[in-house]
Amino acid sequence: MSTGARFWDRKYGRREYVYGTEPNRFLVEQVSGRLKPGKEVLTLGAGEGRNAVWLARQGYVVTAVDYSRPALEKLHLLARRQGVEVCSYLSDVMDFELREARWDAVVLLHMHLPPRKRSLLHRRIVKTLCPAGVLFLEALRCDQFGRRSGGPERPELLYSAETLRRDFQDLVICRLLEEDRFIESGEHRGWTSVINLVARK
Ligand SMILES: C[S@@+](CC[C@H](N)C(=O)[O-])C[C@H]1O[C@@H](n2cnc3c(N)ncnc32)[C@H](O)[C@@H]1O
Repeated sequence: MSTGARFWDRKYGRREYVYGTEPNRFLVEQVSGRLKPGKEVLTLGAGEGRNAVWLARQGYVVTAVDYSRPALEKLHLLARRQGVEVCSYLSDVMDFELREARWDAVVLLHMHLPPRKRSLLHRRIVKTLCPAGVLFLEALRCDQFGRRSGGPERPELLYSAETLRRDFQDLVICRLLEEDRFIESGEHRGWTSVINLVARK
């Protein structure tokens, strides 16, 4: 097991939901007008499932990938409680097969990989989207470094608009916005510098 997976296993190994059970606000605001219910959605780095379960409740067919077993156990508990099904894979996202033109939408929220892996994953996401498929991405951006409201300790793990424009140049960018958001999810509370992207193939 990787050091990263061990870190997340420890973080998720208690009863409370670390990021709460309410879905990410950007996702809620952006999905419904852009994606019809019934579409197949892949959520990468799905964590304890607050977004995957919400998507399933909106009528999407949802698959979640995360390399933390406790995260996926909590995801399925939340799904059961809310009466929906989510298919899940315990896997490093870098090892998960992303078949060409497979998914109607990919959701990538607050997953911070080192730059080389991140660009590789982004290229694979472009390939795995169906024609007209949509990517919903939100992450902490460079300005978050040093803020007390959380996030990675290594600045190279943070996102910038230039990186996203370059990595997703083969998609049509519908929205690319840098925002300061007051985030209250589980134990995380405070003003946070985020960047979010909606892009269509
Ligand atoms: C900050 S959490 C965000 C969770 C979820 N997206 C959310 O918004 O609630 C990052 C998640 O990415 C997962 N993750 C990080 N690197 C990963 C990798 N290489 N493969 C699979 N999962 C990974 C972690 O286990 C963790 O659940």
